Amino acid sequence: MSTVIGIDLGTSTTEAAILRSGKPDMILNFDGKAVTPSVVGVSASGSFVFGERAKAQYLMEPENTVIEVKRKIGTGEKILMGGKTYTPAELSALLLKHVKNYAEEFLDESVSRAVISVPAYFDDLQRQEVVKAGEEAGFSVERIINEPTAAAMSYGMQHMEEESHILIYDLGGGTFDVTLLEMFGGVLEVKASSGDNQLGGKDFDECLIRWLAEQFKARHGINLLKNDAAMVKLKEQAEQCKIHLSTQSSCKVEIPFIAQKDGQPLALEETLTAEQFEKLTEHLVKRTHRPIDVVLSDSGILPGDIDRILLVGGSTRMPMIARDIEGYLGQAPERAVNPDYAVAEGAAVMAAIIQGSLDEEDSLVMTDVSPFSLGVKAVDDLDRLMMSVIIPRNVTIPVVRSETYCTNADGQRTAEIEVYQGESRNVEENHFLGKFTISGIPWGPAHEQQIRVEFSYNLNGMLNVEATIVSTGERAGVEISLLNQKREESSDVLPDDQDAADVENWQDAPEAKRFRTVIRRAERRLKNDALEELPLYRIDLEEALYELKLALVKGNIQEAEELEEELLELLESR
Ligand SMILES: Nc1ncnc2c1ncn2[C@@H]1O[C@H](COP(=O)(O)OP(=O)(O)OP(=O)(O)O)[C@@H](O)[C@H]1O
Ligand SMILES: [Mg+2]
Repeated sequence: MSTVIGIDLGTSTTEAAILRSGKPDMILNFDGKAVTPSVVGVSASGSFVFGERAKAQYLMEPENTVIEVKRKIGTGEKILMGGKTYTPAELSALLLKHVKNYAEEFLDESVSRAVISVPAYFDDLQRQEVVKAGEEAGFSVERIINEPTAAAMSYGMQHMEEESHILIYDLGGGTFDVTLLEMFGGVLEVKASSGDNQLGGKDFDECLIRWLAEQFKARHGINLLKNDAAMVKLKEQAEQCKIHLSTQSSCKVEIPFIAQKDGQPLALEETLTAEQFEKLTEHLVKRTHRPIDVVLSDSGILPGDIDRILLVGGSTRMPMIARDIEGYLGQAPERAVNPDYAVAEGAAVMAAIIQGSLDEEDSLVMTDVSPFSLGVKAVDDLDRLMMSVIIPRNVTIPVVRSETYCTNADGQRTAEIEVYQGESRNVEENHFLGKFTISGIPWGPAHEQQIRVEFSYNLNGMLNVEATIVSTGERAGVEISLLNQKREESSDVLPDDQDAADVENWQDAPEAKRFRTVIRRAERRLKNDALEELPLYRIDLEEALYELKLALVKGNIQEAEELEEELLELLESR
């Protein structure tokens, strides 16, 4: 089976990694560097250029070069490069193809499978576009993994036995993500994710650009913001200055020949202190608070229960970030992972798990959440269309939930079930995922007949939606791919009844904590590919695990203890 690599396709920079001898290794590009600017351009000869070369070209020929493509993913916007238009997915595909090329050179083998990370806060449409880009680049995209989850996996691999609540704070070039995880005995459980798709280092650069342009206008009466060539230089210098101010108390920006007045060239010369810069960008830092609040309240964890805060993303090098976090959460963050590599490293760990190249004992088990709510279009008491949420955001997946609705017209014989993802009460503002019709509803007055809609979001990232007419048992349904998780066949031996739904919520049982280690061990063992050759053992294990969860949710603790014994014997027997 061919190698799977992990890729962090960032707004500003892209990294790739692979797991070798149980450790993630960064894949170096043609320049021998692990970090590649996410910049693509067309050269004078018509060929594509990437990375540092493209970034340099951007200064001279912005019209032939594109930066920060990731911010446009999912917008449907067309991007002009060298006189041709491209979609964000096409440009991302070019970047990924470049990664594929240098990875093949570095590893000296063909590379056709990848795990690609995306911000946790990307919606389904944006995820689909990244998959499309990966496929266009020639990869089979084995899984889309959330960036903060990947960062946590990179940390988790090195701290397998730790038990803690970890907050991952990822402020990159274009996006902000925050995720709360619980780690215990090699199990990583994502509790909640939130973020802001439009907040990153780029916004700090823009603040500085505006400030520099204002100073210039005040001195010379010329608006640089209207001058494309000046803007390119300003952007470059603003970013340099920002980075400088992460370690120095002041910075002098000098750009010669940035404009002309009365035939005379004008230079921009400004000095800015770190303090001034922090004032200018204070409002951006404050914007990180809301996602932090969402994650804490959705996961039901108090700031005091957080054991560590890990910083990821280049923008967390700004000292004000750590200071702000400490002020807001009462705890200093740590730099326990490499902020540039952690996401790619974690994607590589996931890649190795998918490839089956990690020993069971060295492997991490991970559960994730869907950061968006899932629901159906419904009509409220006042006859207004609304989003009726069935699976709220930040519920651990896999999960099964259902809701019952009634008909809203006399003699209604069919019902259309429309499925949406998103947080708005106004269903039209959410992202449409799919629909189907259920027919054969017996005649009755409005509100008499009931339809139960069940959502089951399984480990394959598939959302199964099934509607049942309560009075007749008639069913109809649809399956929607949500790409959050690995797309693979699952062997589903669980009985298909209400119990099956309940056991998935075993963690809510009062005694769950006592049994979770053995449950996780069994789940981890079941993920081991080697079990394919031991089908009977596998079934025994699955059954005992299922019975244990069932006993737990039913509150039969004595039975659960017996089953725990049985499971331990099974686990120890191989
Ligand atoms: N020393 C530093 N001080 C301040 N900012 C920095 C520093 N080093 C890098 N940055 C900023 O970090 C950002 C890039 O970070 P990173 O490479 O983590 O982002 P990304 O992964 O490309 O983006 P995203 O995760 O948002 O898609 C840029 O805005 C860059 O200016
Ligand atoms: Mg990033």
